[in-house]
Amino acid sequence: MTSSHSIQNEMCFIRGAIDIPHSRHFRYGDAASDDRVCLALPRLCDPDPVAPAFGGLRLLGLLSILFPLTLILVVEEFDPKTPLEQALTPPSSWYTDPSFLDLELHRVFHRGWQAVGYVEQIKNPHDFFTGSLGSVQFVICRDASGKIHAFHNVCRHHASLLASGSGQKSCFVCPYHGWTYGLDGVLLKATRISGIQNFSVDEFGLIPLQVATWGPFILVNFDKNICSQQQFDTKVVGNEWLGSCSDILGASGIDSSLSFLCRHVYTLRCNWKVFCDNYLDGGYHVPYAHKGLASGLNLESYATTMFEKVSLQTCDGGSMEQGDDFDRLGSKATYAFIFPNFMVNRYGPWMDTNLVLPLGPNECQVIFDYFLEAAFMDDKDFIEKSLEESKRVQMEDIVLCEGIQKGLESPAYRSGRYAPTVEKAMHHFHCLLHENLVT
Ligand code: FES
Ligand SMILES: [Fe+2]
Repeated sequence: MTSSHSIQNEMCFIRGAIDIPHSRHFRYGDAASDDRVCLALPRLCDPDPVAPAFGGLRLLGLLSILFPLTLILVVEEFDPKTPLEQALTPPSSWYTDPSFLDLELHRVFHRGWQAVGYVEQIKNPHDFFTGSLGSVQFVICRDASGKIHAFHNVCRHHASLLASGSGQKSCFVCPYHGWTYGLDGVLLKATRISGIQNFSVDEFGLIPLQVATWGPFILVNFDKNICSQQQFDTKVVGNEWLGSCSDILGASGIDSSLSFLCRHVYTLRCNWKVFCDNYLDGGYHVPYAHKGLASGLNLESYATTMFEKVSLQTCDGGSMEQGDDFDRLGSKATYAFIFPNFMVNRYGPWMDTNLVLPLGPNECQVIFDYFLEAAFMDDKDFIEKSLEESKRVQMEDIVLCEGIQKGLESPAYRSGRYAPTVEKAMHHFHCLLHENLVT
């Protein structure tokens, strides 16, 4: 299809939401239902970064409308209403198109609670760490009174990044011109501003973000329309973040009783969803791609359960991985996927978390944080062997994920199918994505 065809079709679509075009874009929703019309039209007035406002200029205004509609058409190529047994997987453009990633950042990542780190990172007053998600740069800190704060990590003077890395600070001093902020975000000092007019220190504090904790994890809500710093009840946050799975995770040993051990960070040349999909295939790839891991699991026992925004995969332990005295996985492994990009794995005395951050349409970073039960903290041999084995599995997965990205970028591939008995959680993930992208 040429781009002019594509534009014509979309113009048709906008003109009255009546002339539904019969383009191949509509292959999976040929019903051309009223649903589709409703989906697209509200987007016209969204204050959406992918739809920059061009004032009253009619033509430019029209272009600003066309851009998100193109994306909505791409989103709609996946039909969540088709049963898993008949469904096609999302088209490869979901994994390759830069504007699709912009839409995901806006509608998925910058809404609702997102895991950003763990409480031990800011255990003491004055501790802080920084991070980013898409274009949002953030800093999380604990003030002198013990209260946790999250702010945009951007100086209010000329937008310099304020803090970097992690550590301890009694205040944030901007590296550019020295404006200084308290750990509560208040502007304490604005240097050399004598003569300035219409300026109020009170209005130039750091811009806050909503922050909360659940168990050992720190969560932030990046929604730009919410900037209060209210304190949240753990139960409420748990329900919002994990839905009815909140208690189940707690009962599975996903809690604050383990201690942080170490962090491994990997950069992968693949879309962030490729890593998630690989995680969510119900152990399908394990016997083929992770022969070492397969020997430590009883794959016949693999089970998948879906909740609102969480899917749980469980598997019993098998024979020992590397001899009888080494049992990294224990009797049962629980793999929890928390939409959209956070995975918590609990096995034996271990808990590890995988936070997948999109860096571009074909690049992501995966942060592995390892936590261990206190009784094993001094067992250096066990720790070393466990981390080695875990790293080997990650390297096997990285090779797979980077190969998949190349396949997705190939003209030979458009979309695939699900293996119904094992890839339920992956389908659930794609349906949740679709739901978030259209609302
Ligand atoms: S940009 Fe921060 S003080 Fe100038
Ligand atoms: Fe894997």
